[in-house]
Amino acid sequence: MMSTKLTLEEKKDLIRMAFAARKFAYTPYSHFQVGAALRAKDGTIFTGCNIENASFTPTICAERTALFKAVSQGVHEFTDIAIVGSKEGEVNEQITSPCGVCRQALFEFGGKDLNVIMAKSEDDFIEEDLNTLLPYGFGPSNVEGNSALD
Ligand code: THU
Repeated sequence: MMSTKLTLEEKKDLIRMAFAARKFAYTPYSHFQVGAALRAKDGTIFTGCNIENASFTPTICAERTALFKAVSQGVHEFTDIAIVGSKEGEVNEQITSPCGVCRQALFEFGGKDLNVIMAKSEDDFIEEDLNTLLPYGFGPSNVEGNSALD
């Protein structure tokens, strides 16, 4: 099914929510703070921030925090995700694109049509579908033996 196309105002709202979520980032090690806002098909929005750990490997990215919050509440279908990131205390001057692990985690649920909004501000952002960010992605259909690539 095609994902709903958001209006510009709805995209700005999603970006605003990602910025709000970033305030809760726990980043005593990298000081790089990320916020994400994930929009479910029914319009519900799940937010997340990155949460670091003294042992480093348990660190989780903002995107997966948002995704796992949603999945743990029974929500599996998503249309868009907004991502913002910057060094602590800095105004956003860079685009933060999802790391490879997050692309894979999102692919499981968002599929290739998930719209990924990478924002410097509400007025300055780029967007790409997940298929572009994760070409030839490995997903549930591969495990079921009917790859979309065949
Ligand atoms: N990080 C995210 O939260 N999302 C990304 O897409 C890139 C990286 C976090 C993980 C870590 O806490 C910090 O940014 C530096 O890598």
